[in-house]
Amino acid sequence: MGKPNQLHFHTKQWYPLPEVEPRDLSGKTVVLIGANVGLGLEAAKHFARMQPTKLIIACRSIQKCEDTVEEIRTATGFSKITGYTVDLSVFSSVVEFAENLEREQERLDILVYSAAVATQIYNRTGDGYEQSMQVNDLSCMLLSILLLPCMMETAKTSAMTAPRPRLVVVSSGAHFLVTPSQDVLSSENVLEKYSDLDYCSQPGVMTIRYHLTKLLNVFFVRELAERLSGSPIIACTVNPGYCKTMLSRNVRVSGLAALRWWLYATLFARTAEMGSRTIVWAAVSESHREKALHGHFLSDMEVREESDFAVSKEGFAMQKKLWDEMIQVFSQVSPRFKEIVDRYFSSPQE
Ligand SMILES: NC(=O)c1ccc[n+]([C@@H]2O[C@H](COP(=O)([O-])OP(=O)(O)OC[C@H]3O[C@@H](n4cnc5c(N)ncnc54)[C@H](OP(=O)(O)O)[C@@H]3O)[C@@H](O)[C@H]2O)c1
Repeated sequence: MGKPNQLHFHTKQWYPLPEVEPRDLSGKTVVLIGANVGLGLEAAKHFARMQPTKLIIACRSIQKCEDTVEEIRTATGFSKITGYTVDLSVFSSVVEFAENLEREQERLDILVYSAAVATQIYNRTGDGYEQSMQVNDLSCMLLSILLLPCMMETAKTSAMTAPRPRLVVVSSGAHFLVTPSQDVLSSENVLEKYSDLDYCSQPGVMTIRYHLTKLLNVFFVRELAERLSGSPIIACTVNPGYCKTMLSRNVRVSGLAALRWWLYATLFARTAEMGSRTIVWAAVSESHREKALHGHFLSDMEVREESDFAVSKEGFAMQKKLWDEMIQVFSQVSPRFKEIVDRYFSSPQE
């Protein structure tokens, strides 16, 4: 289907999405990554109103956890909320968070990865990767796979008719706006290339970095879903639409450009609550929909085809290359990671 046309996109932005239909989440544990502001916070409030047995939020600091727990409690009256700290720009923090969660929690029914950064400024993390790629993609991959055994165990205890454990990764329509260049596609190691200072200093590379990270979300979830086919886990990506949040806090614009942006946001941005609806829908919609969601990109509460590049031969080849690279990277980061991969992933059909 490719990039949505401008008229279609802007019209959709104006129309309200259907209200979230409440589900009974009793007995369920919901984990939200990036829950202190924006779409994650609004999604957390929706989940809280559905009274899960536990709502777990992961934020960058204890203070942010405490403030968020209080905000959700005040807004919804729900109090079975636990905060965990995690810094997604540090692999050891992600590993520690996953270990703590697995040790302290009995089940994991819904895992939502909403955290992200949008920046055009190059920063290299202590692990050696471009920061937004590490936060938006690599940590999402690492965490999702480290928590897979917990979700698999949860699936064993779910009734056959109950919704299966779900992984919802928040991607974006921005992924339609990026086509990786030939030099990246033919490079020996894509993750290293995307973190290389010389490469990232080339004109235009960091301008579309956020868009690229959202394309990598799509690749990861599609490959994961394919390798988990036949398993009880459902994985999908979500596009919440363009929403007014803190996401652009690192993007510096001034003068006329700032005014244009403000005007555009005022006219077309959804509220964070509206944007959170597709996320929550993906996480809790009825079990008869599950097959249709698995491995797919959801926008405005329906399955949409991903970008032309994502569905091209080159796109699928890049997806598989990234998967292999990711396995190599994380096998060095956590011994448990490799064990999980060997245990749970079948090779997809070529
Ligand atoms: N807003 C939009 O228009 C839009 C459109 C399409 C897709 N999305 C996607 O929606 C998701 C949520 O975005 P949003 O708009 O709600 O953005 P946001 O308001 O900026 O929220 C981002 C969240 O990510 C967390 N985060 C960032 N870096 C982190 C780190 N190193 N460790 C732990 N947490 C970290 C932030 O925590 P801190 O507060 O501590 O930084 C915050 O909770 C993202 O995946 C984004 O790509 C947004």
